[in-house]
Amino acid sequence: MGQDHATGAGVRPRARWSPTRHRAWGFLAAGALVLSACTGGSDASSGADGGGDGGADGYPNATITIVVPFSAGGPTDTVTRLIAEPMSAELGQQIVVQNVEGAGGTVAAGEVAAAEPDGYTVLMHHIGMSTAPTLYPDLPYDPLEDFKTIGLVTEVPMTIIANNDFEPNTLEELVAYVTENEDTVTYANAGIGAASHLCGLLFQSAVGVTLTEVPYEGTGPALTDLVGGQVDFMCDQTTNTTGQIQAGEVKAYAVTTPERVANLPDVPTTEEGGLAEVQFGVWHGLYVPAETPDDVVAALTAALQVALKDQNVIDQLADLGAAPVAEDRATPEAHTELLQSQIDLWRPIIEEAGVTAS
Ligand code: MLT
Repeated sequence: MGQDHATGAGVRPRARWSPTRHRAWGFLAAGALVLSACTGGSDASSGADGGGDGGADGYPNATITIVVPFSAGGPTDTVTRLIAEPMSAELGQQIVVQNVEGAGGTVAAGEVAAAEPDGYTVLMHHIGMSTAPTLYPDLPYDPLEDFKTIGLVTEVPMTIIANNDFEPNTLEELVAYVTENEDTVTYANAGIGAASHLCGLLFQSAVGVTLTEVPYEGTGPALTDLVGGQVDFMCDQTTNTTGQIQAGEVKAYAVTTPERVANLPDVPTTEEGGLAEVQFGVWHGLYVPAETPDDVVAALTAALQVALKDQNVIDQLADLGAAPVAEDRATPEAHTELLQSQIDLWRPIIEEAGVTAS
């Protein structure tokens, strides 16, 4: 578990443990294989100088922790740290980012579901929030019942990338290579239900292979190993891979979106590479425990909406191939609607694939 010690606190659990289309291309599946979508604080006086009025009824008057369910330095962490700063300024209070890795994000979600419902423990999670109920038969929380949604945050394309020494040079060659070398090729993911795992499932289903998957606690460390040659290839978010692709440290076969990504103009789409079935985008959103007061949720939503209009956030996300959602989607209503529809979308696909975490 990692923590930003510069700013402080951690998750404050309650006494009980209840562990656990396209609008653009973002949220949709047009067929069986097209799975797109495409604490407790301690120092009430130490908040950042902010432009906000502090939210509802004195909230917040202590440090807020945003829990990230994957490793520091990875794509979810990157997006979280980007929005945390303007949210902190708007709320007039410090925000700590805490990484609670494990089990494809379900460890973190379980901790936040069981945390004090006071607005000081917030979860950042992605598409994996919608697939976990099907992938994890013993999931100790219900994404819809045990959380309130704050709002959607981003939509992020994915890239299929490999170590530079990996033999195939194009997506067509990759398909042929993994077909011929099914027993030896390795695929990195960030655990069952992680975006990298789901994209890998799509790829393998489309190609008709079952590869050896190497799990990590996030695609941050997975990318390090991929660059180092410990694992062959993976599908990962542009918010993690853009720098390495642009620097030539990895080879990129495709982006998993219908259109090429602006800052990766030389990387073809999966459709151009003959794998149109593999289209996949990653949405992120913020959550709090279900019993969190509505006025606290409203304060967090308002701060999120301010953060998503922050020019630095917009520019940095654009540099990483991503974008904030529009304001009308950074709301609890739009977020809950998407979460429900994605749970419904993924359930039959995962059941048909016969994948579970048990
Ligand atoms: C991460 O932050 O490491 C990723 O979101 C992992 C993934 O879902 O593939």
